[in-house]
Amino acid sequence: MTNVIEVQDISKRFTIHHERNQTLKERILHPRSGSSEIFDALSDINFTVAQGETLGIVGHNGSGKSTLLKCICGVLKPTTGQIRLRGNLAALLELGAGFQHELSGRDNVYLYGSMLGFTRKMVDAIFDDVVAFSELEHFIDTPVKFYSSGMYVRLAFAVAVNVNPDILVVDEVLAVGDERFQAKCIDRIRRFQREGRTILLVTHQADTVRAICDRAIVLDHGNMIADGPVTEALRIFRERLLGDVIDHRPGGSGVVTIDGLSAPSGSFEVRHGSSLRFDATLTCDHAVSGNLVIEVFTRTGLLVSRNDAEASPVTLRPGVNKVGVELANVPLLDGVYDLNVGLVEPQGATMLAWREKAASLQVLYDGRSSGVVAIESSVTQW
Ligand SMILES: Nc1ncnc2c1ncn2[C@@H]1O[C@H](COP(=O)(O)OP(=O)(O)O)[C@@H](O)[C@H]1O
Ligand SMILES: [Mg+2]
Repeated sequence: MTNVIEVQDISKRFTIHHERNQTLKERILHPRSGSSEIFDALSDINFTVAQGETLGIVGHNGSGKSTLLKCICGVLKPTTGQIRLRGNLAALLELGAGFQHELSGRDNVYLYGSMLGFTRKMVDAIFDDVVAFSELEHFIDTPVKFYSSGMYVRLAFAVAVNVNPDILVVDEVLAVGDERFQAKCIDRIRRFQREGRTILLVTHQADTVRAICDRAIVLDHGNMIADGPVTEALRIFRERLLGDVIDHRPGGSGVVTIDGLSAPSGSFEVRHGSSLRFDATLTCDHAVSGNLVIEVFTRTGLLVSRNDAEASPVTLRPGVNKVGVELANVPLLDGVYDLNVGLVEPQGATMLAWREKAASLQVLYDGRSSGVVAIESSVTQW
């Protein structure tokens, strides 16, 4: 397989100047007074991407994902190292990149096209497809400053996928649109995959990475800490996030651990359509409230279900706690599934504790359907 992207020893150092309040005269006499601080947003990043591969890039906020993509797209010059690309590239960088706010959607399509090396004639040829994909027929002559962020992304995505790129680079933006439009983008990405194009995808959504990437890399404070199969990379990403949460708590207190799961019946076996009860044991060194997250995965890494964590609040006392969980009317077909269990902060995203593959769930099913879940179906001949 030929490599279409080669990233070699890439580092990016930002120098941030903290100017003191100065008079104009002082500023002219001592142009660089005030302190400056260097910050390594990326350190020694190395990886290659083969033609037709879809690479996911994950990492906490500020880990350097956008900086890396900007270096790959040539928007930023890396401090050291080199990047080689084979083929033409279209990028959807962070919101705000690319479009001229005063110009209409139409003019921006032409502008963006010319930035990607398209002549006016070439843009004419794809224009209708771009507008149709973006669903902005009625707004295409409106200045984009009046667009919502969702509309903005729709137009940018529509251009990027219609300019026929060999490499498509997408930073976060998929999360902006509504769900229906997201699904449409993902359909288009899948078509790109079938056509053998190469895709780099930065996203917060582990599900999206699982659903579409062949491989993922994990960034952590500018270092690449994993490069490998998606399931493995996501596990490392989660463990690192969790490590951060624990390390950064003042005084080192506030540790919650999920010690394990135990089923009263002694096994995690359940018949299709019936329910399974089990207990999760959590230990903490102070009282803590959180929501319990339960995920069920197939062995091939497909998320079958995540519960509504907000509907599963728990309050833990210092010491050992047992929390009862019931999975009702399990609709799975026979096979072995993995259970992940986590505790998240009531307000949302911070993971207080996480246990990957806390138990394997064995599902027994006598019927003859195959797949992951049973969908009742009937056939009538008229
Ligand atoms: N132009 C810049 N000048 C100084 N620091 C920057 C600049 N761009 C990004 N950074 C810093 O580099 C780090 C990585 O940023 P970024 O690549 O945007 O992270 P991510 O996309 O993973 O959230 C952050 O700490 C950010 O503040
Ligand atoms: Mg970013």
